[in-house]
Amino acid sequence: MVYEAAENRYKSMKYNRCGHSGLLLSAVSLGLWHNFGGVDTYENGRTMVRKAFDLGITHFDLANNYGPPAGSAEEMFGRILKTDFAPYRDEMIISTKAGYYMWPGPYGEWASRKYLVSSLDQSLKRLGLDYVDIFYSHRPDPNTPLEETMAALDSIVRQGKALYVGISNYSAEQTTEAIKILKQLGTPLLIHQPSYSMFNKWIEDGLQDVLQENGVGSIAFSPLAQGLLTNKYLTGIPDDSRAAGSSQFLNEGQITPEVVERVRRLNEIAEGRGQTLSQMALAWVLREGRVTSVLIGASKVSQIEENVAVVNNLEFSNQEIVRIEDILKS
Ligand SMILES: NC(=O)c1ccc[n+]([C@@H]2O[C@H](COP(=O)([O-])OP(=O)(O)OC[C@H]3O[C@@H](n4cnc5c(N)ncnc54)[C@H](OP(=O)(O)O)[C@@H]3O)[C@@H](O)[C@H]2O)c1
Repeated sequence: MVYEAAENRYKSMKYNRCGHSGLLLSAVSLGLWHNFGGVDTYENGRTMVRKAFDLGITHFDLANNYGPPAGSAEEMFGRILKTDFAPYRDEMIISTKAGYYMWPGPYGEWASRKYLVSSLDQSLKRLGLDYVDIFYSHRPDPNTPLEETMAALDSIVRQGKALYVGISNYSAEQTTEAIKILKQLGTPLLIHQPSYSMFNKWIEDGLQDVLQENGVGSIAFSPLAQGLLTNKYLTGIPDDSRAAGSSQFLNEGQITPEVVERVRRLNEIAEGRGQTLSQMALAWVLREGRVTSVLIGASKVSQIEENVAVVNNLEFSNQEIVRIEDILKS
């Protein structure tokens, strides 16, 4: 069946300006870290991307190493783009990154110019694209001068291989330096991609201020703490959940009785707001407009449908914020 995007796709999603740039991002973006690899079912991935776009999600986030195997999420997304999205490329913001291990030898990870440029060339081939919209340095490199990494990002934009650049997992101090260097080069930093959720608030300790003061946007990854901030683990560990699978990043041991109790109490507040917990967790990240977009993952279409409905209720009363803080401190 030829895919035709839903006509009403821009009706309910919210679009937020990314820092002081000209770019608007959907308040909810879809990441392809899990469930889009060579080990996963192509039709499930394809259905999720189509549904996301139909619901107004314009931004799709990848990295060179997403899979498994590494590279296969870009290949799957490239196939979906070619099959279904050729008429819609200019309505999409597609990002990729380089930083983690990709190939053996001294040039296959971190953030040298050699690695970033060759990795992006490989990503573009897998994606079947001439350019990505955003290219990220995926993690800071302690052994490469920041000037070299930022100059590589700048030249990637000048070569037309990316429209904008971002950084991910950089500290507040590293970000301040990166912003300065990129400004001098004439390619402003568009966006930072940090982890951020009710269970992981490190960006409140400096990074958020740096981004706001400098007009840089932000996109929060793992805003649902990989599924912990939903109601799915309240009564055990479902067989089809990330925690029950072979993820290195979320396992059964992390779902302690204390965590479940905290989630149960948060769930009560969400119910009082007429929202699901996943929606409240996303609204909390987006509160006060300090984060441009929440970068969710999904294993099923129904999760995307549930999560995009966050835009229907983004406001919190002071009392709700205080009750949430009390639970997070407990
Ligand atoms: N820059 C970086 O270093 C970095 C690192 C990590 C991630 N990321 C990016 O951030 C994206 C999102 O990360 P993430 O997958 O950890 O985000 P997340 O949104 O915190 O977790 C997504 C997982 O939660 C579960 N879930 C989502 N919605 C649900 C709902 N409504 N009800 C119940 N369960 C639900 C699903 O897992 P199951 O159904 O499988 O249990 C889903 O795969 C990645 O795809 C990637 O693009 C970037």
